[in-house]
Amino acid sequence: MTVKTMEDLFVETLKDIYYAERHILKALPAMVKKAGAKQLKDALETHRKETEGQVDRLEQVFQLFEVTARGKKCQAIEGIVAEAKEHMKDIEDAEVLDAGMIGAAQAVEHYEITRYGTLIAWAKQLGRDDAVELLEANLEQEKNADKLLTNIAEAAVNRKAAA
Ligand SMILES: [Fe+2]
Ligand SMILES: [Fe+2]
Repeated sequence: MTVKTMEDLFVETLKDIYYAERHILKALPAMVKKAGAKQLKDALETHRKETEGQVDRLEQVFQLFEVTARGKKCQAIEGIVAEAKEHMKDIEDAEVLDAGMIGAAQAVEHYEITRYGTLIAWAKQLGRDDAVELLEANLEQEKNADKLLTNIAEAAVNRKAAA
């Protein structure tokens, strides 16, 4: 589609994050399985469930704009997820693998945070408060997931220092 208006641009970016969320949803089960620390495993599983809800919210936003929910290939998220997969294939040490997966997961969260920040700003500009509310709910979950991952990483570092 040709992007002519702010609304077109909003919808194109909505398709990008919709693709990204669904791509993450496919990648998360393997990460949950590979995570060594229980805290990390639980955090990834909780976020997997949250991500299902996020996909639902995005579908509601598509509906609000009367556009069929469809993803648009997002190379950024594919690259980040590919790095996570590389770690899972290459790293044997459980603690090092956890650290690598936390790093990759935080890269995912930061990508999502930037996308949602932009979409919220544009939805506000378009006067679409109904969409803003849904997108803010997703953004909140991404920020919390990012914070939780930081806490898990720091706890691991502290455990190591104390050992
Ligand atoms: Fe997400
Ligand atoms: Fe996320």
